[in-house]
Amino acid sequence: MAIVSSGSPAPRGRPSHEPRRPDAPPRLVDPTPVPEGVAPAREDGLRPRRLADYIGQSELKQVLAIAVEATRARQEALDHVLLYGPPGLGKTTMALVLAEELGVRCRITSAPALERPRDIVGLLVNLQPHELLFIDEIHRLNRVAEEILYPAMEDFRLDLTVGKGTTARTRSLELPPFTLVGATTRAGSLSSPLRDRFGLIQRLEFYGLDDLQAIVERAAGLLQIALEADAALEVARRCRGTPRIANRLLRRVRDVASVRGHGRIGASLVAEALSLHRVDDRGLDASDRRLLTLMLEGYGGGPVGLDTLAAGLGEDSATLEAVVEPYLLQLGFLQRTPRGRIVTPAGRRHLGWPAGAAA
Ligand code: ADE
Repeated sequence: MAIVSSGSPAPRGRPSHEPRRPDAPPRLVDPTPVPEGVAPAREDGLRPRRLADYIGQSELKQVLAIAVEATRARQEALDHVLLYGPPGLGKTTMALVLAEELGVRCRITSAPALERPRDIVGLLVNLQPHELLFIDEIHRLNRVAEEILYPAMEDFRLDLTVGKGTTARTRSLELPPFTLVGATTRAGSLSSPLRDRFGLIQRLEFYGLDDLQAIVERAAGLLQIALEADAALEVARRCRGTPRIANRLLRRVRDVASVRGHGRIGASLVAEALSLHRVDDRGLDASDRRLLTLMLEGYGGGPVGLDTLAAGLGEDSATLEAVVEPYLLQLGFLQRTPRGRIVTPAGRRHLGWPAGAAA
């Protein structure tokens, strides 16, 4: 299976609709991928290649395993697949696994790279029968690209308009049967005509601790790192339910271990190494703590409006909402109420504040 990449992925650490401040430091716990060219194929060595090696997401694996087996038996292209869920949970990895299982190539692109009609047309006309076309951030496709995709997905047909004005004519071109794998963090932002053309629509869930520990142990084995089971669990606790972050944290732990000349890595070394990067025992980093601290010290724990917090932190509201808040909400450290954000008793306790105390 070959991987063919097209266009440049969105820069890391920002919501897709809003640029990150240029002076903002990169976060070790950022779930978005490092763009190719900055750290080429960093994650690739650790990606599982087959369904049997893919840990967690059991429902998704079951559904796709059946679809793959049936597709292979019928010698057809796999139905179009839409994968949705938070970043860093393995949507791209799953597309590559599907291609491997089907014995075909996967071409990778992302919607922002498909600006002009000829970008998507170029990809479609170069597909071989049964190949996969992976489009990341598919909710960001422009209307023209989306309309080119409708007949391509439904009838493997490309409708091209040739000429302009009164001389314009539509030409149809037959495409080989192929599979579109779309990935999005915002399934709700997809238009319904596009969503309806996917035969398989699957959500990726945050991973549980056991699965994360197994993912860290597998990665440690591949990187030839001697990691105790409790150390793997410690990385798992701090990775925000996200394998991509787990693998990144593991590399930082390895750095500290090799500089300190440690042999086997235990839980205390993980705690020490990750404290150095200011990632605490629940995976919160300095940005998370800054937000909670501002809310507690400046606003008695809330309620306080998003824009007020953004101004206080020198961040933009969209970044705060899309990048910082989701994990705090998931942990139950932060709540959104109609009157604004509040720090929960659990959030207070985590920062060492008495539950419910006024600032
Ligand atoms: N590395 C990243 N995600 C993984 C997964 N789901 N299973 C195994 N290894 C992984």
